[in-house]
Amino acid sequence: MATTKGTKSTKVGTRVRGGEVRVDLETLKKTVDEGLGEARTAESADALEAVRITYLGRKGLMPQVMKELKSVAPEERAEVGRLANSFKNELAALLESRRGELNGAHSASDEAPVFDFTLPGQGSRRGTRHPISMVIEEAVAIFGRMGFTVAEGPDVETPYHNFDALNTAAHHPARDRQDTFWLDDGNLLRTQTSPVQIRVMESRQPPVRIVTPGRCYRRDTTDATHSANFHQIEGLYVDHDVSLADLKGALAYFAHEMMGPDVAVRFRPHFFPFTEPSVECDFSCHVCGGAGCRVCKGSGWIEIAGAGMVDPRVFERVGYDPESTTGYAFGMGIERIAMIRYGIPDIRLLYENDMRFLRQFS
Ligand code: DAH
Repeated sequence: MATTKGTKSTKVGTRVRGGEVRVDLETLKKTVDEGLGEARTAESADALEAVRITYLGRKGLMPQVMKELKSVAPEERAEVGRLANSFKNELAALLESRRGELNGAHSASDEAPVFDFTLPGQGSRRGTRHPISMVIEEAVAIFGRMGFTVAEGPDVETPYHNFDALNTAAHHPARDRQDTFWLDDGNLLRTQTSPVQIRVMESRQPPVRIVTPGRCYRRDTTDATHSANFHQIEGLYVDHDVSLADLKGALAYFAHEMMGPDVAVRFRPHFFPFTEPSVECDFSCHVCGGAGCRVCKGSGWIEIAGAGMVDPRVFERVGYDPESTTGYAFGMGIERIAMIRYGIPDIRLLYENDMRFLRQFS
């Protein structure tokens, strides 16, 4: 590079006659690197401020570059402008973050930690039982007093256990893809706890007296009273000479224990594929005593369970003698009982894990 006598290099270019500075890209790049390096290694707030003044201050190097842009070789001018601008932004941001860093370091290292022993501690709250668990535990305890033990089955069921063995034919609408969660292997998420009846009867001989609480799944659109995932408790009593009166007695006892001593039970004829005869079981409204109110929607009764006498075809499927064996079965929704018992207006509250709601139960 040809240098005329009397010229001198500066941080951004070359000073020529008359104090004029010729800015060039090469020198500017070096200056940029230096500036960023100085900002990175500055060890105090004062040192950072000095870097800022050198490069960005009113009389600093970058304003100088901008002023001398016209002196830059035309082919380098655009690039020099771009580099100077991006450097200004980068350096400003770097200075800002280093300043934060140095301040933080200052307070952590220079001030002794303050620990006020007189402040109240952060107590850890005891958890509470979920209302669904509470109803399950209570229902199991009530049926336990009548001699029922607990049996459980898988959430992923075979169509055989969920439908066929329960006398629910292949064309039954309950099997619809719209209603049921099917898995790729041909199994499904059980739509009811009733398949556990089959599993239990397949594995033992009468007498059988079991309740089975658990999760069920249906392709329901969620609203205030529906959830695609919900819970049921199923009951099955199989022996000889079991009658509908026994079923009613058991459900009446359950109603009194769960809802209060004055609650009455009624049966309405209904249809389920796996019971004959089938009934729906209502409890008289525990809020209004049967007069009609908001909870029972004016009817005085609340529908609680599906039930009936086990269909002889189900006994045949599990290898029991349909002539000499009799039994009853029932199934009820846990959420429904929880909502009625605790006055919960929306099923979704049970699944939102909102501690303000859940802490009300214990
Ligand atoms: N599984 C039925 C349902 O989900 C309820 C039910 C009805 C269960 C009658 C039973 C029964 O055991 O006998 O709608």
